[in-house]
Amino acid sequence: QPPNLQIEESRNLERTNCRAKGAAPGFKVAILGAAGGIGQPLALLMKMNPLVSVLHLYDVVNTPGVTADISHMDTGAVVRGFLGQAQLEDALTGMDLVIIPAGVPRKPGMTRDDLFKINAGIVKTLCEGIAKCCPKAIVNVISNPVNSTVPIAAEVFKRAGTFDPKRLLGVTMLDVVRANTFVAEVLGLDPRDVDVPVVGGHAGVTILPLLSQVKPPCSFTAQEIDYLTDRIQNGGTEVVEAKAGAGSATLSMAYAAVKFADACLRGLRGDSGIVQCAFVASQVTELPFFATKVRLGRTGAEEIYPLGPLNEYERVGLEKAKNELAGSIEKGVSFIRK
Ligand code: NAD
Ligand code: LMR
Repeated sequence: QPPNLQIEESRNLERTNCRAKGAAPGFKVAILGAAGGIGQPLALLMKMNPLVSVLHLYDVVNTPGVTADISHMDTGAVVRGFLGQAQLEDALTGMDLVIIPAGVPRKPGMTRDDLFKINAGIVKTLCEGIAKCCPKAIVNVISNPVNSTVPIAAEVFKRAGTFDPKRLLGVTMLDVVRANTFVAEVLGLDPRDVDVPVVGGHAGVTILPLLSQVKPPCSFTAQEIDYLTDRIQNGGTEVVEAKAGAGSATLSMAYAAVKFADACLRGLRGDSGIVQCAFVASQVTELPFFATKVRLGRTGAEEIYPLGPLNEYERVGLEKAKNELAGSIEKGVSFIRK
């Protein structure tokens, strides 16, 4: 183990022992891909979360520096760093929640599916580790293409005999965060007061905002519906193009990931009424996976809500979304089965 990781770990061990005497209860969270564009701000924000008692930062590069840096924050969570495949099992053992932003991001001109070649294998390996070391953990998959990486994770867990559909959640929270922001702009409201359900999946036309179900209740012109649907579906591409080769959304994604992880932790704690959108194993449509609102509880996504009443525009969008999703799901499943 690199010396600075050893020192950091022994310091943390002392602090863990101190904490053990009068420690506040909290959850153990691992971030896989913690040194990346999303991973670093995500680690920062999770270190600030009072529900987290232990934070494990795993990556194949740069975790010693990120861990040393984050561990100086005077918040409660004890931080430990893990570097490279040989330390994956230690990073995962005992975790309650594992967040996966590991993998390559898009450059202009690419689709999320173009990332499959590299990211499918990364997600497979990481999920094999989860199945072995923390099979009961809640897993939040951020790595793209989410529409395929979540089915990959499910197949890995099925093979290992550990699959619990309630505990595997694809993170589509950024679509909701964007939808709330863009809708609030159009309505002249504070985005914190707006709630837009976004269902389907996490790529292009599979991202289906249900503008007829926005809270507070409101109405839009046909032009506003076209504008908002297009902007929400292409929010990721908007950032990829603005970053001009330097990656995709990282800061808004870290914000969204923490908002979602915090909801998962509050569910684990037993809080009631925690509802967020996520891409999960589902019977809401004929597809095996679909993003809808889910209620988060002590065992993960304990209830999956139906789509609710759709208007004609949304029914057409739903058919397009399902057509594309079916192929992406099948691609993920056959990556493991073949
Ligand atoms: P990045 O390249 O900045 O960081 C990725 C990190 O993953 C790097 O530190 C890299 O070393 C690490 N990594 C690579 N292989 C690994 C492995 N085998 N084990 C552990 N770590 C590994 O990329 P980023 O901007 O942080 O994006 C990460 C992923 O998140 C991309 O696939 C991107 O498309 C996706 N993403 C998803 C959403 C969403 O809404 N779900 C939003 C934004 C980005
Ligand atoms: C996003 O929606 O920002 C992410 O899926 C990253 C991307 O490639 O667009």
